[in-house]
Amino acid sequence: MFKVALLPGDGIGPEIAQEALKVIEKVKARFNIEIEIREGLIGGIAIDEKKTAFPDETKEICDWADAILLGAIGGPKWETLPPEQQPERAALLPLRKRYELYANLRPIVVFPELIEASPLKREILGESGFDIMIVRELTGDVYFGQPKGIFEENGHLKGLDTMVYHDWEVRRIAKVAFEIAKNRRKELTSVDKANVLASSVLWRNVINDVAKEYPEVSVKHMYVDNASMQLIRNPHQFDVIVTGNMFGDILSDEAAMLTGSIGMLASASLGEGKALYEPVHGSAPDIAGKGIANPIAMILSVALMFRYSFCKNDIASSIEEAVRVVLREGYRTPDIAGISKNARIVGTVEMGSLIAERI
Ligand code: IPM
Ligand code: MG
Repeated sequence: MFKVALLPGDGIGPEIAQEALKVIEKVKARFNIEIEIREGLIGGIAIDEKKTAFPDETKEICDWADAILLGAIGGPKWETLPPEQQPERAALLPLRKRYELYANLRPIVVFPELIEASPLKREILGESGFDIMIVRELTGDVYFGQPKGIFEENGHLKGLDTMVYHDWEVRRIAKVAFEIAKNRRKELTSVDKANVLASSVLWRNVINDVAKEYPEVSVKHMYVDNASMQLIRNPHQFDVIVTGNMFGDILSDEAAMLTGSIGMLASASLGEGKALYEPVHGSAPDIAGKGIANPIAMILSVALMFRYSFCKNDIASSIEEAVRVVLREGYRTPDIAGISKNARIVGTVEMGSLIAERI
């Protein structure tokens, strides 16, 4: 019996969560497996209904589950709250930290059917697109380093964040990245800012140390500013990228856009036991409730859940293939319609049904 916590959250979250459920129902029937799903409130909706972004009931559901499936959280309604009460700081970051979900995998995949949606020139993108795995450290760095806050000093205010990495934090994320690289092109690019930052000098030393355990994987180090340029100049030079929390946040949005739509990208956040799956896009309040949100990133996050939490590669692949088939048939939500003339524009619910039918 697989135990799943479903946290739809805010904005388009509930709409895409509904389509994830549809896919899970289809998987249950088709593969004859048992999955129990419990739903919880998180983010702005939890603030509205329970006065806190990450209520105790939701923590209990997550404690019970093997995998947590999250829609999206946040929105303009809660942006005026004191920072520490806002959904991102009060729910998303504590959720990642509670279960030490230190390894954030963001597969950046260009679907050949959507190549025309990428802002990159065809000659840079190539005919078959590219496939990069970003491995972002998720529970350390300047996101969580202490001290942190706004302090008074000599009659002035000082905003302070602390960028810090411990050797054990770098070592464990390095191992995840090397293991992934070992099973792919055997090339790992580690991104840091070792020409300026002490935490990056340590990062680089630890990566080199772990590299000795993986002689079959070749390692390249790149400064983050250069990496952000190289991603656009020639994305094909990258296969697996490992980097810290802050650089990974920025580079993954940049890489996401190379694929044409952030609405296609799934993510997995892994720790020692439990794992969290969520689309890379946010709550998209501007299109919430309109029935036009793209559910594919959420559905592909379900696929990652079957792959990484439940070791069901066959199910994961059949979901991913169903997505490819639907795209090949020309179905598009508005965000990925691009310039293609034969696009068959569909809404959230229809896209979810089409994919579920093809599993
Ligand atoms: C992400 C998001 C979050 C982050 C925000 C919402 C706190 O941008 O998952 O990339 O910075 O990690
Ligand atoms: Mg981000």
